[in-house]
Amino acid sequence: MLQTLVLTGANRGIGLELTRLFVASHDWFVHACCRRPDDADALRQLAGDHPDRIAIHALDVTDAGSVADLAAATGAAPVDLLLNNAGILNPHQTLDDLDFDAWEQELRVNTIAPMRMALALRANLRQAANPRIVTISSQMGSLARPKGGAYAYRSSKAAVNKVTQGLAVDLAGDGICVVAMHPGWVRTNMGGPEAEIEPIESAQGIFAVVTGLTRADTGRFLTWDGREHAW
Ligand SMILES: NC(=O)c1ccc[n+]([C@@H]2O[C@H](COP(=O)([O-])OP(=O)(O)OC[C@H]3O[C@@H](n4cnc5c(N)ncnc54)[C@H](OP(=O)(O)O)[C@@H]3O)[C@@H](O)[C@H]2O)c1
Repeated sequence: MLQTLVLTGANRGIGLELTRLFVASHDWFVHACCRRPDDADALRQLAGDHPDRIAIHALDVTDAGSVADLAAATGAAPVDLLLNNAGILNPHQTLDDLDFDAWEQELRVNTIAPMRMALALRANLRQAANPRIVTISSQMGSLARPKGGAYAYRSSKAAVNKVTQGLAVDLAGDGICVVAMHPGWVRTNMGGPEAEIEPIESAQGIFAVVTGLTRADTGRFLTWDGREHAW
């Protein structure tokens, strides 16, 4: 029987490579979520090639109604893995150029949405044999790395790390493993061309880590290549 993945931000960057890997593994059914399916050409091509292993859903992770629609579409079926990948990094977050409205939006996407998704799918996750919630965070949110700048992004990822810790405690009784991950510095729209690794390398590492997680791993902050990251 196929395991079920719900993945946000599946249309490009790391999310698209993750979708490709999960579909290619033959062990998973992927609910691939993105804001605008009509514009998600690569995703629609993949779905056309593998209609039995992928369903595309329109999902804006900041919109409560949109998240509720997604949860309704999954019905009462088990969800083995929720992968909160969608994220944003606005360009105006230095001391000289700080956009407070954009900061609030960054918190909505990077911090609050993973919690909204976890709660919306909690009942589905409880039905699975080895349920996992993995949120793609960032080393930029680590309090162990004293850095300036990127205030909105750093604070949003530090906060989602704390959300992850809390959920690991509160969902232990449900048997749900909750983990945060740093995906590496990746050559996507967000990471830019100077970044260190390709999206496929990040996705391969994340795939290997998340498919191997069990409830014993709950509360960990891990890198894409399976190392422990300092909180
Ligand atoms: N790249 C790096 O070096 C790096 C490093 C550390 C952490 N990360 C994290 O890794 C994750 C993936 O990043 P990436 O590099 O693949 O970024 P990316 O190429 O910019 O892709 C971001 C994805 O998030 C989606 N998204 C943004 N806002 C959304 C919303 N409100 N609702 C639903 N989806 C939304 C985007 O959809 P649209 O196409 O609709 O905009 C897109 O699919 C993010 O959480 C990011 O913070 C990346």
